[in-house]
Amino acid sequence: MDQRRMDAEGGRVVHREWRARKFAVIVAVQNVLVAACLVVTLYVYWGDLNREQASDHNVHIRFDVISGISSNGTLKIHHIASSYKMSLADEKNDTIKISCTGPYVVYIDVCYKSLSSGEELTGILQLQVVGSETPVSNFTLQTRSADLVCRGLSSIAYLRKEEKASLHLYLKDGFKIKSATVGLTYLWGESVSFDESQ
Ligand SMILES: *[C@@H]1O[C@H](CO)[C@@H](O)[C@H](O)[C@H]1NC(C)=O
Ligand SMILES: *[C@@H]1O[C@H](CO)[C@@H](O)[C@H](O)[C@H]1NC(C)=O
Ligand SMILES: *[C@@H]1O[C@H](CO)[C@@H](O)[C@H](O)[C@H]1NC(C)=O
Repeated sequence: MDQRRMDAEGGRVVHREWRARKFAVIVAVQNVLVAACLVVTLYVYWGDLNREQASDHNVHIRFDVISGISSNGTLKIHHIASSYKMSLADEKNDTIKISCTGPYVVYIDVCYKSLSSGEELTGILQLQVVGSETPVSNFTLQTRSADLVCRGLSSIAYLRKEEKASLHLYLKDGFKIKSATVGLTYLWGESVSFDESQ
């Protein structure tokens, strides 16, 4: 009789302990789920924020496609496709005003061909700072083919606030650029405060 009551008591204790442990496990699982949910929410939030910044609030300038170039000279810009805190310097539409000091990605998406097939022709596109002899970016294009060659090229150029930059073309006779999309994007994103404090 005594023996049986003790077993019953022991059983109840074991049962209570088991229930407590089960409760602890449920709470732990819940905490993990809440934490995971938080991480996912933050991740999505930051992702949206970054994408938005990349498209709208990065200091940049990008030009509409410029087509049909076959002569030496400064690249004329017909239209700005998109820009933020950057603009053209004057009405001649060939000089870009630099508004922030720092590194920029200079990129060009270009399609070109040779009008005198067989002969290797070279075209050079340079980004130059007005008043400086040395180009900050130097892209060399080469072809001997009458078929269109399309390439995407980029380089990094360090430019200073108040500088003016323009794109210069040196094309061999017969070298034809069918189309070119050019742009500059500031690598320090929005942080213009750096030069505003200078
Ligand atoms: C561009 O200038 C170079 C010399 O700097 C010259 O050899 C070439 O023929 C010129 N190209 C055109 C298309 O006028
Ligand atoms: C410069 O660009 C503006 C705006 O796109 C345009 O209205 C103007 O005619 C252009 N000027 C020249 C000289 O191309
Ligand atoms: C630009 O590149 C071309 C071809 O690679 C080279 O001949 C020329 O000297 C370069 N110019 C400068 C100023 O670096």
